[in-house]
Amino acid sequence: MHTIKFVHIGVVLLLCAFQLEATVKRDIDLSALYKGISEDRLPKEIIPLSYEIKLEPNIEEQTFCGLVKIKLRWINDFKKIFLHAHFDLILKDDKIKLQKIKRDIGNGTTFENIIILRSGRLPRKTIYVLHLKEIVQKDSECVLEIPFEGNIWETADGLFRGYYTNSTTLSQEVYLATNLKPNNARRLFPCFDEPGLKVPFTVSIARPKNFTTVFNTPLLRTIQHPVLSHYMLDYFDKTPPMSTFTFGFVVSKLNRWSINPMNETYNLSSPTINIWSNKFSTELQEVHEKLYLVYETINDYFNLTIPLPKIDVLAIPDLPTINSNGIWGILTIRETELFKEGYFVLARELVNQWIGSWITPEWWSEANVNKALTSFLAAEFAMTIDGGVEFNGKYPMTILYSLYYELSKRYPHSRITGMKQETESFKTELVIRMLNFTLGKSTFQNGLRKFILNHRYKTFIGDDIWIALSNQAIKDGTLDSGLNISYIAESWISQNRLPLITVNRDYDKGTAKINQKVYLRERPHDVPDKEKMLWWIPIIISRQDTLNLPNYTSKVWMNRTKEINIANLPDKSQFIIINKEEVGPFPVNYDEENWNMLSNFLQTAKGRSAIPTYTRAKLLHDAWNLAYAGDLSFATAFNMTLFMKYERNHIVWSPVFTFIDHFGRYIDMSEVHTKFECTIFLAIYYILLSAFI
Ligand SMILES: *[C@@H]1O[C@H](CO)[C@@H](O)[C@H](O)[C@H]1NC(C)=O
Ligand SMILES: *[C@@H]1O[C@H](CO)[C@@H](O)[C@H](O)[C@H]1NC(C)=O
Ligand SMILES: *[C@@H]1O[C@H](CO)[C@@H](O)[C@H](O)[C@H]1NC(C)=O
Ligand SMILES: *[C@@H]1O[C@H](CO)[C@@H](O)[C@H](O)[C@H]1NC(C)=O
Ligand SMILES: *[C@@H]1O[C@H](CO)[C@@H](O)[C@H](O)[C@H]1NC(C)=O
Ligand SMILES: *[C@@H]1O[C@H](CO)[C@@H](O)[C@H](O)[C@H]1NC(C)=O
Ligand SMILES: *[C@@H]1O[C@H](CO)[C@@H](O)[C@H](O)[C@H]1NC(C)=O
Ligand SMILES: *[C@@H]1O[C@H](CO)[C@@H](O)[C@H](O)[C@H]1NC(C)=O
Ligand SMILES: *[C@@H]1O[C@H](CO)[C@@H](O)[C@H](O)[C@H]1NC(C)=O
Ligand SMILES: *[C@@H]1O[C@H](CO)[C@@H](O)[C@H](O)[C@H]1NC(C)=O
Ligand SMILES: *[C@@H]1O[C@H](CO)[C@@H](O)[C@H](O)[C@H]1NC(C)=O
Repeated sequence: MHTIKFVHIGVVLLLCAFQLEATVKRDIDLSALYKGISEDRLPKEIIPLSYEIKLEPNIEEQTFCGLVKIKLRWINDFKKIFLHAHFDLILKDDKIKLQKIKRDIGNGTTFENIIILRSGRLPRKTIYVLHLKEIVQKDSECVLEIPFEGNIWETADGLFRGYYTNSTTLSQEVYLATNLKPNNARRLFPCFDEPGLKVPFTVSIARPKNFTTVFNTPLLRTIQHPVLSHYMLDYFDKTPPMSTFTFGFVVSKLNRWSINPMNETYNLSSPTINIWSNKFSTELQEVHEKLYLVYETINDYFNLTIPLPKIDVLAIPDLPTINSNGIWGILTIRETELFKEGYFVLARELVNQWIGSWITPEWWSEANVNKALTSFLAAEFAMTIDGGVEFNGKYPMTILYSLYYELSKRYPHSRITGMKQETESFKTELVIRMLNFTLGKSTFQNGLRKFILNHRYKTFIGDDIWIALSNQAIKDGTLDSGLNISYIAESWISQNRLPLITVNRDYDKGTAKINQKVYLRERPHDVPDKEKMLWWIPIIISRQDTLNLPNYTSKVWMNRTKEINIANLPDKSQFIIINKEEVGPFPVNYDEENWNMLSNFLQTAKGRSAIPTYTRAKLLHDAWNLAYAGDLSFATAFNMTLFMKYERNHIVWSPVFTFIDHFGRYIDMSEVHTKFECTIFLAIYYILLSAFI
């Protein structure tokens, strides 16, 4: 105990520094995960088979102690054991025990001590090494027992302490919670802290009498603590095999509200969803029903029920992190987030119980794909439930426009480097959306179902998603054989740019030349190697005569070539639109004649109602930004704004405001021609005037 006290002083000083960092980082959750990427991997000679953990947090002292027994298997002959233990975790070296399990026929199981010569951390690493006296043979199994001690933090790393105001007594209440993502399990107990090493945990946790502990699994039994009279010991059900970072618990005085949803539809669900909160309000009832509804929606979509009998949802007033901490079977969520309108946030948190916890990214470099997929699916579920009312038509346009602006700069991400991972994740999300549309909902959904089914209790890499979708698409005949979604996705994800498609129609022959190049908006367009950047692009063509067909099935995939020709296009009296509703994240340019047909059509009432909202917004957005980039004459772009005089939909207006916003922000540093600036402002003035008078 004395050592811990000593450590404390250092810890308190450090905390001040950490707190600052934590406030700044709050919104960029990917950068926190990316800390894990560069980690050294543990040698593969020894793997864990299960953990048995006893934890005793001491809230007042802000410390904890515990004992872990890890069952290990030797994959190869090996004389050392490498495992993770953070610098803050004190292992009691002299009490570490290693026992080989001997199963003798007739004699049952016996144990044989293995002598540990010495042990210690690798320099500057959170890896702890035990040097054994003898080589342990391949296929041996041993139990490693380590007593340990550590500190409870005030920032959301490892086991931390937080506070809230009791809604009835108005006094301050304390709680303990864990945040072990991405690699902080090693702050709580010595372990093999890699997502791929999924094994069951059998756990007991001590708590003061007037607190409650929720853990990954339900409570099994409670006994009086044998030594501390005001403490109890809770034993929990053995967990399913799971990654160390999904381990977690919360010790608090929050109340569990036994509100059974009135609607018996939700009665069938397994697991039970419990809500824990500081105060009761009728809103809680509503949130509870929403949670069940979201759960059922996800469950139906995946056709797979997670292997946990309960999900505890804890509404914590001032949770220091708004990011999902990925505990399996528990959602800790800020009270304000829980009461947010709509379903997106709840869906995003809940879908993590499947993608993130049940199936897990193999390494933190894949966190990006995980985030993109869960975010896309959360949008899908919100749309399934109520049409996505909460998006107010802005999904996915808000993220799409910011990508268009960022990735078409001379130097993307030059301003805020922390944005880079977020941008990549958004891009991946839009690629996933593109696949959902081009493959069709049913192929996409069935592909994902198989993906989850095949990776349960295991890990995945991004390519596993694409392979599952490819296989399903080939089976369903929704993708030409010879195409491979791995290549398609890779071309979008690996390149830090977006393509621009240019369509030049030959009206006499009924054909068109379609070519792709890097989309560059800021001039000069002097990006190195720009000729080499090519993508796999779905060319979805809508024609004036078949506008109302809700058909996203791709006509042609442009196969990473510069130019293709397409035939069987309508005659010169009809326009075509490519990439309607921004199915793929790329702008499209046309020849002047096609632009003018579009412009004239949009100026008729019939035309405006025949072209979907997102497509109208896209046409306006592309025309203006192409003019800004110098790829389209300003007069043609100006013609495309004429219909705005009649436009009353805010979604179509949003590119205008985004444009003004970005234009204003970058004008001082870009090399735009003064003439262009003047004209563009006149145009904006004109359409604002004509629309609002
Ligand atoms: C099994 O137990 C018996 C009696 O206790 C003992 O004589 C024998 O040596 C044991 N066998 C092994 C393989 O340890
Ligand atoms: C409940 O816990 C608090 C510590 O937060 C302690 O001060 C109080 O005495 C406890 N009350 C009971 C009834 O045990
Ligand atoms: C139960 O909820 C479902 C889905 O929200 C709804 O369709 C159904 O009408 C509700 N049933 C009752 C009895 O309220
Ligand atoms: C849920 O099911 C239980 C037992 O099957 C039943 O007693 C209870 O009334 C049901 N609740 C609702 C709200 O239908
Ligand atoms: C608030 O304080 C009362 C009285 O001490 C206690 O019974 C209740 O559990 C506390 N509620 C919360 C949410 O902490
Ligand atoms: C859902 O899963 C069950 C097996 O758990 C299977 O029998 C059923 O066919 C599946 N439904 C669909 C639509 O795939
Ligand atoms: C996925 O595609 C279907 C049509 O195939 C569409 O209805 C659905 O809205 C799409 N999902 C998202 C989130 O865009
Ligand atoms: C697609 O490419 C991936 C990665 O190269 C490969 O593993 C997979 O087998 C391919 N799928 C098909 C259907 O060719
Ligand atoms: C959608 O378009 C594709 C390609 O043009 C065509 O093969 C398919 O029949 C169309 N589907 C519907 C429902 O119109
Ligand atoms: C793309 O398709 C063309 C014609 O079908 C073919 O000649 C070319 O080899 C393909 N290129 C790639 C990269 O697949
Ligand atoms: C703009 O539209 C008008 C009317 O349709 C047309 O006469 C003119 O040629 C267009 N200007 C350009 C540059 O396309």
